[in-house]
Amino acid sequence: MLKAREAVRTLKEYHPPLGNREGLRLDFNENTAGCSRRVLQKLRELDGDSLARYPVREPGERVVAAAFGVSPEELLLTNGTDEAIHLICETYLEPGDDALVVVPTFAMYEIYAAATGARVVSIPAGQDFAFPTADVLSTITSRTRFIAVANPNNPTGAFTSLPDLASIAKVAPHAAFLVDEAYFEFSGETIAPKWRELPNLFVSRTFSKAYGLAGLRIGVLMGNGDQMQVLRRASSPYNLNSVALACLPEALADKDFVSNYVSQALDGRRQLESEVEVWGVRFWPSRANFVLMYLGEHCKEFISAMRARGILVRDRSSDPGCQDCVRITVGIREHNQRLLTSLREVFSEIGLRQKVAR
Ligand SMILES: Cc1ncc(COP(=O)(O)O)c(C=O)c1O
Repeated sequence: MLKAREAVRTLKEYHPPLGNREGLRLDFNENTAGCSRRVLQKLRELDGDSLARYPVREPGERVVAAAFGVSPEELLLTNGTDEAIHLICETYLEPGDDALVVVPTFAMYEIYAAATGARVVSIPAGQDFAFPTADVLSTITSRTRFIAVANPNNPTGAFTSLPDLASIAKVAPHAAFLVDEAYFEFSGETIAPKWRELPNLFVSRTFSKAYGLAGLRIGVLMGNGDQMQVLRRASSPYNLNSVALACLPEALADKDFVSNYVSQALDGRRQLESEVEVWGVRFWPSRANFVLMYLGEHCKEFISAMRARGILVRDRSSDPGCQDCVRITVGIREHNQRLLTSLREVFSEIGLRQKVAR
């Protein structure tokens, strides 16, 4: 009988967006505005020839490199950040190696690392989900070959100081250290291009969030030129399809779309955080386009009452330390307003009372 490798058969399952997601989708940190009109225009202009040909990635890499202020050799376009994580794991991890993650965090680090047969060492976050830098440093051994940190982190929104991240990269020069900046546009702080001093550092970005292109699957992996050359060898030459590559320069050129979106999402985040504070609901200040909050015994009821109002939010109860916590994405003004209106109604309906005067 055909049998998959043990490491793959025993993998945790990732649950992607499920069937019925009708309504305002504030559950997967997607862009609630859609995407730039320039991208939509480009999609309409695509013809048969452009689809019949194999995609060419390099011109897209030059455009992104210029926009990000790095050289094309320091960068690889990937099929979303997911592929970047997968590539790093496949390139640097072997059975018996250790991969370090601080939990709770984005699930794919553990999934791709475990699939290689490596051991995943999960380090719990500190008080209020603070990054446990000292614990990470003391857990690093000669077996550690991969460390992944989402900055800002998902699902907590917590931000790790850049000097702390650099100290980890320095202590583990034998480990590929990935700083996943999927929410960079909302935090505004990056560790790039520190890989010029720290050749084991990789930084990933995505077009799935602020640019609103999760469906096109465009990610960017950056790092030391020599390491990137190795990763390039391991990647499929056609990992980005021609539609994504055609739209990419338009998405990058429409700076107003991104800056307008980010500014509305940041307003929404501030409003959401102050609203939950008014109701005495515990939350963790976020640097991303979502907020994690603790609903305790009201968690399930809150989620279904929001759903009844056509708003999807995400139950994060199965993440370590997140029992009865809900993560809510913010987006454009109109959606943020709708969220706040429903949130007030539901809080009141489930019996919460305002604790702080507005
Ligand atoms: C921290 C983090 N990294 C990566 C991703 C996925 O990015 P992509 O769509 O580029 O694969 C997500 C998506 O939610 C995320 O939260």
